[in-house]
Amino acid sequence: MKVIEIEGNRELTGQIRISGAKNATVALIPAAILTDEEATICNVPEITDTDALCDILKELNVNVNRSTESLVINPKDMKNIEIQEEFSKKLRASYYFMGALLGKYKKAVMYFPGGCSIGARPIDLHLKGFEALGATVTNDKNKYIVEAKELKGANIYLDIASVGATINIMLAAVRAKGKTVIDNAAKEPEIVNVATFLNNMGAKITGAGTSTIKIEGVDHLHKCFHEVIPDRIEAGTYLIIAALCGKDLRIDNVIPEHIDSLTSKLEEMGIKLDIGIDYVRVLEVPEKLKATDIKTAVYPGFATDLQQPFTVLLTQAEGISKVTETIWENRFMHVPYLNALGADITVENQTAKIQGPRELIGCEVVATDLRAGAAMVAAGLKAKGKTTITNSEHILRGYESIIEKLTNVGAKITLKEI
Ligand code: EPZ
Repeated sequence: MKVIEIEGNRELTGQIRISGAKNATVALIPAAILTDEEATICNVPEITDTDALCDILKELNVNVNRSTESLVINPKDMKNIEIQEEFSKKLRASYYFMGALLGKYKKAVMYFPGGCSIGARPIDLHLKGFEALGATVTNDKNKYIVEAKELKGANIYLDIASVGATINIMLAAVRAKGKTVIDNAAKEPEIVNVATFLNNMGAKITGAGTSTIKIEGVDHLHKCFHEVIPDRIEAGTYLIIAALCGKDLRIDNVIPEHIDSLTSKLEEMGIKLDIGIDYVRVLEVPEKLKATDIKTAVYPGFATDLQQPFTVLLTQAEGISKVTETIWENRFMHVPYLNALGADITVENQTAKIQGPRELIGCEVVATDLRAGAAMVAAGLKAKGKTTITNSEHILRGYESIIEKLTNVGAKITLKEI
């Protein structure tokens, strides 16, 4: 097990550079198999989710070449074989191989994906989308066989604006015959990044980033070069850390527009920010932070993935703040551990009520999932004394070089294996 230890209550100064977005990368890697030629993707974060997807590529006999920050994927000798459960259950995004393999070979055989236990996480909308394109889905326990004689463009309305279903249907539809329209599509920046990648390969996708995406099927996709956008959730996490313990701490390589919902909340709490073209800096944090309420929502609303780290900041605000989670049923697992550190939080239904300010004192806590882990790091940096975070492998799934990045700005943080 990986354990992070933090000696907290230190001032953090300097710059933190944001890496490529995890949730774009994890879709771009499976998407790369849609061509028979080479795809070069740069700004790829070194996180364990990237490694897990590259392992699947290697199982499928795809040539993968990794150098610092860039990944060259060549599927020329690829074999469409069943993706074993040990690979698919390692992460959520393994499900993008369903859409990509179906799109390329008209057949995908794999198992139910893994990922953080933050809710039931069904994939019914993905499967309905594949069926609308002409596929049949056979399911035996955890195993899924999705196949089609021919994929034909269709009009698909998503009951929920799901990120995963939107991307997976795009992957299956790019090489289908005719036109596909996805209505009530998710609008997250990662979807735009994946659509741009596919278009760079010769796909004809318009409307990504709006709720209607149109895909005109093409026969062939070719080689391309692509860059992953900066990770807005990593940027948001470090910005929250800067608000908690930064002194002139600048977060670099950010697309500020992607984190508008967070920066406007920070300003509402009384924090002064310097928002540049590609950076955000915390200029001043008032002695008394104002309490505020947030409700998670699909993009451009307040990101569910930042809810857990943001809760840590709310423990330092004067009065009662409320956090309402609307996307996932089980995303308050960080709360008992924040309370162990000294916070005063109660959860009723899908709303956490945070009474602040409370002093945080280090103790042993658990990273129950990726963003809960990020919340523990943020809390540990603020807390007096030593915080020990067990199950920290969750954190390494999504935050590149977190130890180095925080050490460079003055944190006392170490990672060890026990
Ligand atoms: C993506 O998950 C992200 N993961 C999540 O980030 C993020 O929290 C989420 O989008 C919302 O922004 C990746 O991109 C790999 P959804 P995804 O499909 O695609 C329901 C992180 O911490 N739903 O948009 O799985 C679902 O249960 C991770 O980085 C169905 O009912 O999320 C949820 O309530 C965690 N049926 C809602 O839709 C379906 O077929 C939104 O889920 C699909 C989804």
